[in-house]
Amino acid sequence: MLRGAKVGLRARHEDDNPILRAELYNDVANASRAEGRPWRPVGPDSKDPRLVVDDEEQGRVPFSVVEPADGTLVGIAALWGIDNHNRTAHIGLGLLPASRGKGYGTDVVSVLCHYGFVVRGLHRLQIETLSDNFAMLGAAERNGFVREGVLRSSAWVMGEFLDEVLLGLLAQEWKPDATGEE
Ligand SMILES: CC(C)(COP(=O)(O)OP(=O)(O)OC[C@H]1O[C@@H](n2cnc3c(N)ncnc32)[C@H](O)[C@@H]1OP(=O)(O)O)[C@@H](O)C(=O)NCCC(=O)NCCS
Repeated sequence: MLRGAKVGLRARHEDDNPILRAELYNDVANASRAEGRPWRPVGPDSKDPRLVVDDEEQGRVPFSVVEPADGTLVGIAALWGIDNHNRTAHIGLGLLPASRGKGYGTDVVSVLCHYGFVVRGLHRLQIETLSDNFAMLGAAERNGFVREGVLRSSAWVMGEFLDEVLLGLLAQEWKPDATGEE
């Protein structure tokens, strides 16, 4: 397990799936804002790749996020779009509703930076988020991510086009203790 100050990142377990289905993927509003594609319902036997992890898929490393003390599931995280030539990757995360706003997201980003820069030897990490996702912007910026641009009207979300913000962090800029929590 990868450990941060508040969370642990471990492999996906089958027991996680009913909770993730109910609290993240079948929440139309949340999934529509977080996924960048149209929401569709996820049934109990679904082979949705967000639930059924393909260990052969080299470009994406999915994690479940847990409270280290008792292992309670609090969300999901991933390093995705891993490009070993340009040594870049993207960060994604989503917390269960009851676990938001407690600093976990900031810590997840910190742990994913450690995984990307230290474990994987990457050079650049990138985050895209809706321009009104203030919690995600805060979690990224607290870890040193820099706003590099606005993708105007790039996301169709529940009946309207919204702007996305693109943020980047380079390995040489990264300060492992930037959140003040390690
Ligand atoms: C986005 C998300 C991962 C952020 O994690 P979090 O644990 O809620 O955020 P944190 O508690 O670490 O807060 C990060 C910063 O945002 C601020 N913040 C938190 N919730 C906020 C809110 N609702 N509105 C405004 N600011 C907020 C915090 O004060 C903190 O800022 P600070 O470091 O200056 O104090 C989480 O809220 C979530 O899963 N949301 C739904 C799914 C989603 O949007 N995923 C991202 C898709 S790109």
